[in-house]
Amino acid sequence: MAKEEEAVEVSEAQIAVHWREEQYYQPSAKFVGQANAADPAIFERFKEERFPECFKEYADLLTWDAYWHTTLDTSNAPFWKWFVGGRLNASYNCVDRHLAGSRNKAAIIWVPEPESEETKAITYQDLYTRVNEVAALLRDFAGVKVGDRVTLHLPMVPELAITMLACARLGAIHNQVFGGFSGPACGERIADSGSHILITMDGYYRNGELLDHKVKADQAVARASQDGVTVDKVLVWRRHEGQYASQTPMIEGRDFFMNELLPTYRGAVIEPVSMPAEAPLFLMYTSGTTGRPKGAQHSTGGYLAYVAGTSKYYQDIHPEDTYWCFADIGWITGHSYIVYGPLALGTTTVIYEGVPTYPDPGRPWRIAERLGVNIFHTAPTTIRMLRKVGPDEPSKYNYHFKHMTTVGEPIEPDVWRWYHDVVGKGEAAIVDTWWQTENGGFLGSTLPALQPMKPGSCGPGVLGVYPAIYDENGEVVEAGSGRAGNMCIRNPWPGIFQTIWGQPERFVEIYYRKYCRDKASTDWHDWPYFAGDGAVQAADGYFRILGRVDDVINVAGHRLGTKELESAAITVSEVAEAAAVPVLDELRGRAVEMYVALKPGIQASKEIEDKVSMAIETEIGKMARPKNVWIVSDMPKTRSGKIMRRVIAGISNFTDVGDITTLANPEIVEDVRHHVQSEKVARGEVPRELTTQEAAEIRAFGQAE
Ligand code: WTA
Repeated sequence: MAKEEEAVEVSEAQIAVHWREEQYYQPSAKFVGQANAADPAIFERFKEERFPECFKEYADLLTWDAYWHTTLDTSNAPFWKWFVGGRLNASYNCVDRHLAGSRNKAAIIWVPEPESEETKAITYQDLYTRVNEVAALLRDFAGVKVGDRVTLHLPMVPELAITMLACARLGAIHNQVFGGFSGPACGERIADSGSHILITMDGYYRNGELLDHKVKADQAVARASQDGVTVDKVLVWRRHEGQYASQTPMIEGRDFFMNELLPTYRGAVIEPVSMPAEAPLFLMYTSGTTGRPKGAQHSTGGYLAYVAGTSKYYQDIHPEDTYWCFADIGWITGHSYIVYGPLALGTTTVIYEGVPTYPDPGRPWRIAERLGVNIFHTAPTTIRMLRKVGPDEPSKYNYHFKHMTTVGEPIEPDVWRWYHDVVGKGEAAIVDTWWQTENGGFLGSTLPALQPMKPGSCGPGVLGVYPAIYDENGEVVEAGSGRAGNMCIRNPWPGIFQTIWGQPERFVEIYYRKYCRDKASTDWHDWPYFAGDGAVQAADGYFRILGRVDDVINVAGHRLGTKELESAAITVSEVAEAAAVPVLDELRGRAVEMYVALKPGIQASKEIEDKVSMAIETEIGKMARPKNVWIVSDMPKTRSGKIMRRVIAGISNFTDVGDITTLANPEIVEDVRHHVQSEKVARGEVPRELTTQEAAEIRAFGQAE
């Protein structure tokens, strides 16, 4: 690691010392009285001496076709295997086994975005029928077999959950790509996963508009084919029966309407395929340190056990609850805590199609009131937005949450308090759950009835998970020291992803190389998991997550890799070099700013700035659109030619740029600063002063490259 980057570490740690401690909040007696985990004996059951056998308790929430013989097999470290010898089917566990007791209870309640359209309840019986019919279609019409990858690019409709469960029923690996991703981004993920089937929908509602979604399927198929993978069939769900929401034609022999094929499979029953516990259940692509997205591969047994267990204890889900997780199923939160966890526990899960503020900021609370939602789960970005546009709306509606979750980004204590006092009406227990796509389920959280809440901190490690903060030399940063370091997990857990699809070396390199004590070891103690987040641990053991230490920018909970943004920017022919940095954003947490240098002889223009924004929207998706594109004469660089992102991140955020004496071109820093900051002043875009926590994050940005 270069000198100038070491210097950053020290200052980051010093900054941390000045953080203010927040007051604890206690859950209500009413909540504690009904909680799934209310007896402190649970901590005994999950203490480190009981690892890994403690996780039998989670696995026993599932129905197994064959019980496992080995809880954790570490022989091929760090490719951990959980519940080895066990067999099960995820769709059976989420659907069939609930029929006997809950046949006519709602499994899914779907709320379309237009309020004029009817809310639909899908009972467990309906879900069973529909999953079977879709599984029959996939098997007999599309030829889907065990182990095949099937890419889904679906919006927030029940067909998404149904299609996932149908794949799981067949032992096929679903690969849902977030609906907001562009066609080309979907195509890259199709190619990387080697899928020959794409399942999409003609259109969906977003902010009052019926979007054409099928058009993206055509672009996706074209990109996949450029990348060497042919899509044989595109299966298209229809948003409205008998109508077609897209402008693009259906391609003869390739594109088929699901709704037209399904009658052939009416009443079909497909035996769930009994899968080994360690068979992959799905891929979830996420961003990382290179331009190529990483397909996090999740297992069947370990994953399902982990999401069922954490849903039960941390989400406090009881079968009679009405649970609403306001995330997108296209992200890991939706897979684990809209679909698999809640359905494995046989509860009612709500799926909402649209945006939180459509048609007005009272919408979520109307939905909660009408459906009797009692568990609510969302991200800080949504909370910030609802607070901004409708701070008094919750009090106008008669709903009562017993429990609420925040996930995906650090939450400011102030925002947390609004969530608690206004949304939760002071009644709901809150969990701030820290985890990642790679993790399958929660890693850091309070156990809601047993550990008090502290705004801005996720809490300690969850049951059976033992985190530690390490410094750059692998020494533990002690709780209460006030120093920041790298968030790590010392042990494996059942929800951990199995590998990066097709790139096992990168899996080891990114997550395990940094702190591995002995590459030849098959003892899990030698393989701490490196999460890529900076954190500090208070004396009470609670962790406060600072944000990414690698080059990932978390925009409104969407993980964007700087390399992906930069590759998109340089598809613009005038651009020679590009760098992406995070900038503080009051609503989205962070936004992206792009810095670009042009090829020799090309004049800066608004047109080029717009082209860069468009290129990012086309290559990745609208959610990645930069807040600003700055055309600069040169980038601050190290002597080895590396762009110093932390320097430009400092400029964008009006914070200290740190030591620049070791740069190859220190004189450029003042030029760029003047250009960008005077323009920002003119536009009224000067951010509020950063908290020490935020400043530490900006200074650490790009450090782990
Ligand atoms: C961040 C989302 C603070 C973190 C489940 C992590 C959080 C990244 C929290 C993973 C939280 C997630 N507090 N930061 N409660 N939860 N993060 O893969 O930086 O989309 O590494 O998974 O989000 O994002 P991902």
